[in-house]
Amino acid sequence: MNSKPIGVFDSGIGGLTVVHALTKRLPYENIIYFGDTARVPYGPKSPQTVRDYAAQDTEFLVSQHVKMIVIACNTVSAVALDVVMKHAKAPVIGVIIPGAGAAVAASRKKRIGVIGTIATVNSKAYTHAVRQLDKEVEVFSQPCPLFVPLAEEGWIHHKATELIAKEYLFPLKLEKIDTLILGCTHYPILRETIQSTLDPQVTLIDSGEATAAEVERILDEKQLRNPSKLKPHLQFYVSDLPAKFTEIGERFLGQRMGRVLRAEGF
Ligand code: DGL
Repeated sequence: MNSKPIGVFDSGIGGLTVVHALTKRLPYENIIYFGDTARVPYGPKSPQTVRDYAAQDTEFLVSQHVKMIVIACNTVSAVALDVVMKHAKAPVIGVIIPGAGAAVAASRKKRIGVIGTIATVNSKAYTHAVRQLDKEVEVFSQPCPLFVPLAEEGWIHHKATELIAKEYLFPLKLEKIDTLILGCTHYPILRETIQSTLDPQVTLIDSGEATAAEVERILDEKQLRNPSKLKPHLQFYVSDLPAKFTEIGERFLGQRMGRVLRAEGF
């Protein structure tokens, strides 16, 4: 059981930032990743559509006999955590609750900003998770949909990205937030631009990193850690043709990704 892979899924490529965080924290765990590249983006879609997709994505990982499921996608975590839990036959973790927990722990002034896709922001999932932990915290949310294509394009320090970041983050600056949750898989790629747009004292929370810490805790609690100290196997599946995924994916993952396979049934 313990040598079985951790299953990670996302609407597409962005979830590789979460895999990156997982491999740093848990360097001996085997991982199977599924990116729904044929149907990305999920962020502008209706909650019901995302829930239907999430059920199918989960079924795919279940068919790969994973020991745990990590929902790397903030949008799925926000609107379909219950759907994934219903279909999974293993422990499930989304990125919202760990991200909210890390933000509450980091915030001193109790003024937290959240940026994410339209669906994530509309769901208010981060707001509810934060306020469940601390009712005194004020939460200010802002959808930043253009950050997704900018990150995929590799426009990390591009003037256009700086301009768009200024526009999106201005209302959060006005609210004098002291902590900002990067509530979308793609945003850690634009971390430097986001930080330099805000005051330097604002703490950025990478939900993927917070989730990796929680995955480690759950593996220990359930005694599911892989005892092997050999280089683990990372296998990537996508629902569209793999070529473009590999090219952009290595930037998100921070390492070579080997052969990417096309998942059956999508
Ligand atoms: N993976 C999505 C998220 O974290 C961003 C991309 C999309 O809209 O599908 O919300």
